[in-house]
Amino acid sequence: MRTATVVVLSLLAALAAAAVVPHREADKDLLQKQYKLLRLLYRVQQYNFLPEEKAIAESYNLEENFDHYKDPQYVKIFLKFYNNGYFKQRGESFSPYYQRDQYDSKALFDLFYYAKDFDTFYKTAVWAKDHVNEAQFVYAFTLAVLHREDTRDVVLPAPYEIFPQLFVNAHVIQKAYDARLRGIPGTKESPYYILSNYSGYPVAYNPEELVSYFTEDVGLNSFFAYAHYMYPYWFEEAKYDVQLFQKRGEAFLYILQQLLARYHLERLSNHLPDVQPVDYERPVKVGYYPELRLQNGIEAPARPEGVFPRDIDFLFVEEAKNFERRIYDAIDYGYVYAENQTKYNIREHDFTDLIGSIIEGNYGSVNRYYYGSLFRNLLSLFGHIVDPVHSYGVSPSVLEQPETFLRDPLFYRIAKRIVSIYYRYKNQLTRYTYQDFEFKGVEINSVSVDKLVTYFDYFDFDLSNAFTISGPEAVKEIEDGSQYKYVARQYRLNHKPFSYHVKVTSDKEVDSVVRVFFGPRYDVNGREYTFDEQRQYYVLLDIFTYKLKSGENVIERNSKDIEYYGSEAPSFFDLFRDTQAAAKGEQKYFVDEYKQHFGFPQRLALPRGTRNGLPLNFFVLVTPAREGYTHPLLPYSDGHAPGYPFDRRSFDFDLQVPNAYFGDAVVVHRRQEEVATPVA
Ligand SMILES: *[C@@H]1O[C@H](CO)[C@@H](O)[C@H](O)[C@H]1NC(C)=O
Ligand SMILES: *[C@@H]1O[C@H](CO)[C@@H](O)[C@H](O)[C@H]1NC(C)=O
Repeated sequence: MRTATVVVLSLLAALAAAAVVPHREADKDLLQKQYKLLRLLYRVQQYNFLPEEKAIAESYNLEENFDHYKDPQYVKIFLKFYNNGYFKQRGESFSPYYQRDQYDSKALFDLFYYAKDFDTFYKTAVWAKDHVNEAQFVYAFTLAVLHREDTRDVVLPAPYEIFPQLFVNAHVIQKAYDARLRGIPGTKESPYYILSNYSGYPVAYNPEELVSYFTEDVGLNSFFAYAHYMYPYWFEEAKYDVQLFQKRGEAFLYILQQLLARYHLERLSNHLPDVQPVDYERPVKVGYYPELRLQNGIEAPARPEGVFPRDIDFLFVEEAKNFERRIYDAIDYGYVYAENQTKYNIREHDFTDLIGSIIEGNYGSVNRYYYGSLFRNLLSLFGHIVDPVHSYGVSPSVLEQPETFLRDPLFYRIAKRIVSIYYRYKNQLTRYTYQDFEFKGVEINSVSVDKLVTYFDYFDFDLSNAFTISGPEAVKEIEDGSQYKYVARQYRLNHKPFSYHVKVTSDKEVDSVVRVFFGPRYDVNGREYTFDEQRQYYVLLDIFTYKLKSGENVIERNSKDIEYYGSEAPSFFDLFRDTQAAAKGEQKYFVDEYKQHFGFPQRLALPRGTRNGLPLNFFVLVTPAREGYTHPLLPYSDGHAPGYPFDRRSFDFDLQVPNAYFGDAVVVHRRQEEVATPVA
């Protein structure tokens, strides 16, 4: 299962080594499993409706099946929670960030995870679908499918087709309901389209809405949801597959840092200044109206402007501040104290992973009692700001759900506060010098980048899972396809494929690692960034190994070759149909082709250009590949931290090594029609 682990890890780093893996055809067993599991997610809000599943749900009895789980205690724990009414009812709001929901979800997950064989897992899932909250079911079920050894290669539908409600605004869902009630038909060939607009379209109510096409992008939000599903903060490393958790703390920080950098470019393109970190003492200036109606029909709460963070039921503002201060103290003092009093000298070498885990407060943290869970604490403090002690039964806000937290502009301000801690730490590590960058005998002579063009194109996805239909109809639907195919049509940021060429001379044959970044040149006021300011805004565009030959090398890369981006997710319908057809032996199904969609969307590789062109810095660095120095977050390694060479301080003149190249690039934005016919 080595390859699965690689794919899993690389998902988080958005660095899939998938392209290197040869095509792998799914066997019958896998296809059968996938077929069964997909059926369970179809119209998942409904009770089981297929006769076979209904029968299992009615007859399956956990108490009689203790011996079908790796350890009966997990069944007992689950039953304790379940029988004592701990579990949310169907229709209630659920959030994996609520303490109690987390306990139950863990109990449910363990039940799935520790089922001895697939058959038991499947039966347990069918039973659970009818007996627990639907959102909680999907959460624990998804995690189990991703983490169970026997289902790791199963591909689930994209999150936006499982619960479309979390991805499109309430008008869209309402229009779909209306159409359904009026009996407007829609078929696979001619679906009924509902234009789904981003917040603030056509006219933005506040400047933050100008980038809603980015913050509400369904691919981006799915990627972050998956990042959470792969590394839920409550996973204990000792208990589940340990392989998976290498560098989870570092992954957490690195992804957040890259997201912020990427978001900043999107803001610049829209003439918005950089985000400011959230503040405990001052009111939140940016209000937010999510226009989302959750799975149960209840609106996600809006946040008025000017609200102060207040003590919530399980956390005082003061406590969060304490946790943060302790983390800063540890960094400034140079020591982190583990729960068992072990001291870590964090100046000795790069301890980003340990710092990341204490900030996230995941179960890999060396001292959760002392350092808390700052990231989650901030999400809760600001997420539940309108109903801090749950006295009005307000639903979880978008900040409290991994599928939706990117939608709220406040998320980026929270991320900014977290990433500041990352830099506080990184800035205290030894400065990189000329020697840390140089690659003797290797020189980049020139770099040329194609004209970079972005545009918006249309994307359709199925809304079927958002509404229920009667049982017999649903059965028929699974067999013949939907009678009521309603799709949301959204425009999404995309870019024309582009290439770049790097001319490198080398005095020997040698294996190298090539990194390509881009970053902003000017701030929103047109002032050129200093190198030290700019460091934090560089986005990694590409990283690959290259065997340099002696003499001149021309490296040509196309954006399509960049392996660590995710490809488009197949639609639920296509996935289901392909699985079914392949199971019958009618077509081939390659696991790697379908699994690729877990990554960061390829479409978003470039920030939206402007009509006249958004000026960017383009940076290329070639370093020696070093065998034995692997980093679980990077598919190709040379022993450097993710974020290298910009993670630590350095002088810009030290980075003026022959094997580095700073250049310019410009991104222009065009209408889709203009892109179709080549522009001169
Ligand atoms: C989105 O905007 C378009 C154009 O303004 C409008 O026709 C459409 O009804 C809107 N969609 C929804 C779901 O409100
Ligand atoms: C203390 O805990 C850390 C992990 O939190 C572990 O690596 C270390 O071995 C422990 N030390 C002792 C003395 O138990």
